[in-house]
Amino acid sequence: MERLLVTGGAGFIGSNFVHYVLANTDSSVTVLDKLTYAGTLDSLQGLPADRFTFVHGDICDAELVSRLFREHDSVVHYAAESHNDNSLTSPEPFVQTNLVGTYTLLEAARATGVRYHHISTDEVYGDLELDDPARFTESTPYNPSSPYSSTKAGSDLLVRAWVRSFGVAATISNCSNNYGPRQHVEKFIPRQITNLIDGVRPRLYGDGLNVRDWIHADDHSSAVLRILHAGKIGETYLIGADGEQSNRSVVEAILEAMGHPKDAYDLVRDRPGHDRRYAIDWSKLRDELGWVPSHQDFESGIEATVAWYRDNEQWWRPQKASAEAKYAKMGQ
Ligand code: NAD
Ligand code: DAU
Repeated sequence: MERLLVTGGAGFIGSNFVHYVLANTDSSVTVLDKLTYAGTLDSLQGLPADRFTFVHGDICDAELVSRLFREHDSVVHYAAESHNDNSLTSPEPFVQTNLVGTYTLLEAARATGVRYHHISTDEVYGDLELDDPARFTESTPYNPSSPYSSTKAGSDLLVRAWVRSFGVAATISNCSNNYGPRQHVEKFIPRQITNLIDGVRPRLYGDGLNVRDWIHADDHSSAVLRILHAGKIGETYLIGADGEQSNRSVVEAILEAMGHPKDAYDLVRDRPGHDRRYAIDWSKLRDELGWVPSHQDFESGIEATVAWYRDNEQWWRPQKASAEAKYAKMGQ
């Protein structure tokens, strides 16, 4: 039985990965999570007690990290400060967790030889123009825009250096925008759904024409598992699902799913440095590892996500007031 350590497993994508692994494999899972504002044990309810352990701690704690590495066969590293808007008002925790935290894990991987998979983002590549036919590939040059994406880019480069200089057994994946259950209400899709539940109109930054390449969190999980078990050490894999949508069309899908007119939204102050478009070419993952996504019907994915937030108000309600207070200060 594989013993898997998952950092950041109480957050959005990490918790979806943990549920996915425990439902689809016989691995045991330990989650290491600091439980920042973005993590909650409520996302880890209902897991099999004989195969699941939670450790409350910081990935920057070298002693704890080193002990946990020695007790596991492989590590998947999700823990991060993940929200661009927060990184614009308060970048320090991004530098600490995303850079120093990754460094701490890499040193433990170097000392123990444990297999390490690094979760990253398509934002490391910067952005594309709306009318550019190009998509990001594994060889697109790094060009991050925000404190968040620059610290993620830096963490990827640390991984590459630790592979080359110290022979660490690592792979990297860069995924596009995820959606699904258990995403914090500060993020675009849950913010608009929960605002509508509260009778507040959706808010689009700028002209609302920015494009994101959406993928369901379960497809991200299946791709990560495939890379962990079949990926080539030292390689980077892009993960996507051909889900390009403008923010306007996403909001229209949410409004429609919730029974409102499609134009019942407001345009608000733009995000400084707002990336225009992301688009992922995931053909390497398909051609080399045989992975394909299985949730490409975006409208039905949005309907299921709306239903999840409607049915799980006790999960998101504690986050809502403080998230909206931050946006109010930014005029968004
Ligand atoms: P999230 O903010 O929902 O969760 C982050 C988790 O990390 C939380 O549980 C938090 O408590 C934990 N954490 C933060 N700092 C920590 C520390 N110092 N020590 C231990 N735990 C700590 O984030 P998410 O959206 O689930 O993103 C997870 C990962 O996936 C990140 O690395 C992010 O860069 C990457 N990613 C996210 C997306 C997306 O669309 N959300 C897309 C591609 C890649
Ligand atoms: O591309 C992957 C990245 O996707 C991840 O690395 C990040 O961790 C994740 O947060 C996400 O980053 P984005 O900045 O793209 O996601 P966010 O949900 O913050 O915003 C999505 C788009 O919606 C973006 O163009 C900004 C816009 N937006 C966001 C909010 C919260 C709005 O128009 N209105 C809003 O209220």
